[in-house]
Amino acid sequence: MKLDVKSRIAKRMQAVRGEAAFEMLGRATELERQGRSIIHLEIGEPDFDTPQPVVEAGVEYLKKGATHYSPVPGIWELRASLAGYLNSRHGVNVNPRNVLVTPGAKMMIFSIIQSVVDPGDEVICPDPGYPAYEAGIRMAGATAVPVKLEESKDFRFDLDELARRITPRTKMIAINSPQNPTGGVLTLTDLKKIAELARHHDLLILSDEIYSDIYYAERPASILDVPNILDRVFVVNGFSKSYAMTGWRLGYGIVPEETRPAIELFINNTVSSTATFTQLAAIKAFTPESQKIAANMVQEFQRRRDVFVNGLNSIPGIHCLKPLGAFYLFPNITRTTLRSEQFADRLLNEAGVATLAGTAFGKYGEGYVRLSFANSLSNIESALERIRAFVSHL
Ligand SMILES: Cc1ncc(COP(=O)(O)O)c(C=O)c1O
Repeated sequence: MKLDVKSRIAKRMQAVRGEAAFEMLGRATELERQGRSIIHLEIGEPDFDTPQPVVEAGVEYLKKGATHYSPVPGIWELRASLAGYLNSRHGVNVNPRNVLVTPGAKMMIFSIIQSVVDPGDEVICPDPGYPAYEAGIRMAGATAVPVKLEESKDFRFDLDELARRITPRTKMIAINSPQNPTGGVLTLTDLKKIAELARHHDLLILSDEIYSDIYYAERPASILDVPNILDRVFVVNGFSKSYAMTGWRLGYGIVPEETRPAIELFINNTVSSTATFTQLAAIKAFTPESQKIAANMVQEFQRRRDVFVNGLNSIPGIHCLKPLGAFYLFPNITRTTLRSEQFADRLLNEAGVATLAGTAFGKYGEGYVRLSFANSLSNIESALERIRAFVSHL
């Protein structure tokens, strides 16, 4: 009898979707291989190089033999640097013991969810939102409960709607500010209300702040700015976006003391630990020189954002809010009459612009597409021309 291997795939994997950006990148690259010109606006990573002080330190540490296992929770010097940085930025008192390092922020998100979420639990997530929350929640046998982010509310939570979604099974609220894919930013008042709800209903909060350094108005509030909440909050952050270090795979979390052993156990049993030389090199991200390089990157993002948003808003049928953070635009395309997926598919095939359908981020992403402006101004200008021509022929 022929073995039906497909039927052996675990049920929890059948319920999981991956990040559409990687799938779209594959399709776009295949078209390029066939000789087509493609502008890549699908992938979420800075197009800049990692700051030189970090690169040089990485090379040096490799030469010096920093090539062995690191301790499970990460290297103490990096954890102490991170705690020091966050404590001075937010006036808090995070103990380096509660800073855990993983290969990428995504692994931190996954480690937290697998360590605290049980089958049958519910976790409230923003929709549209970063898909790794839902994937991790499903793999834990739990249910992701979407709360719609409305364009009319600048893609912030409707807090009444959030409160209505809380049930006796709710274990955690996942928030992400500045947000992927909308660029929306939660205010300190929003965060305080979310914290109040969490206290009132005895819930945990996962606050993904990976875009905390990429903002275009005043610095976005962090959950760390809310007094007396750290006992129930998991903060996720990393080096991928702030320091253009996506390929280094370096993320971290701040976790409540009581949960730390469980999360360390999860890391111990999955990745064991994070590469040693990358952690040592990352400490150099906090030097004034690296900080200046990172700030210049954000200034350049802002110039591109402004050109891109103004250009899109001059195309009939497209309406785009100006995001306050991250490096994505999330224009409303409903007036083109195309559905999100059709729009993204046809824009790729007919105009050579790779974007993501809003629905890659949840059902409430219908009517939108996500465009990354982590790309050169000249590519953004060409993309605008292509999008204008594409929409005018619909
Ligand atoms: C909201 C959000 N969180 C986490 C991540 C993952 O970051 P990392 O590359 O550190 O795994 C991303 C990457 O796109 C993201 O957009």
